[in-house]
Amino acid sequence: MFLLVCSHTNEAGTRGLSRAPLICGGLAVREAKRWALRVNGADRAVQGEPHVPLLHFLRNDLALNSPKFGCGLGQCGACTVLIDGVAARACAVPVRLAEGRDIVTLEGLAAAGPDPLQVAFVRAQAAQCGYCIAGMIMTAKAFLAVRPDPSEAEVREALRYNLCRCGTHVEIVRAVLLAAEIARADAAAS
Ligand code: FES
Ligand code: FES
Repeated sequence: MFLLVCSHTNEAGTRGLSRAPLICGGLAVREAKRWALRVNGADRAVQGEPHVPLLHFLRNDLALNSPKFGCGLGQCGACTVLIDGVAARACAVPVRLAEGRDIVTLEGLAAAGPDPLQVAFVRAQAAQCGYCIAGMIMTAKAFLAVRPDPSEAEVREALRYNLCRCGTHVEIVRAVLLAAEIARADAAAS
């Protein structure tokens, strides 16, 4: 990461520090900035170029390793986190778009004790290698927030774009249904 100030202009006619990387004299000009992130309820600051994916900062700077790097293309779901309550693929969200938003990773779910999804995944033994699981849980978390009493078909549909190379989908769907049950029971008891 480096910052190089250049007196030339980019395509948009902006002098010096362009928003897009600029090639000048054979050197790539990069804009390293400080970004204020709110992650798992805490204010965190990271530094880097605006286009670098949020996933990079979560894992490398903030040591939040639950979101995984799978495809890096927004297609497998292994990197899923919540951004303002919506499931988002952290490998495809540039850090500049994450600033000021409320970001939650799997680590943030257990702040007040294990989340029903975490309890259910353990009870249902819904993992083999585990690589996809954080993404599955975060996707399910956003889904159950709007659909607390889903059918099996709805759970399958909600997780349709989260890939599991171990073929654990049957147990994962079962775990999400169990989590919904636990959450409803908790809500009724409180
Ligand atoms: S690593 Fe982000 S969707 Fe695959
Ligand atoms: S449990 Fe291995 S990728 Fe899903």
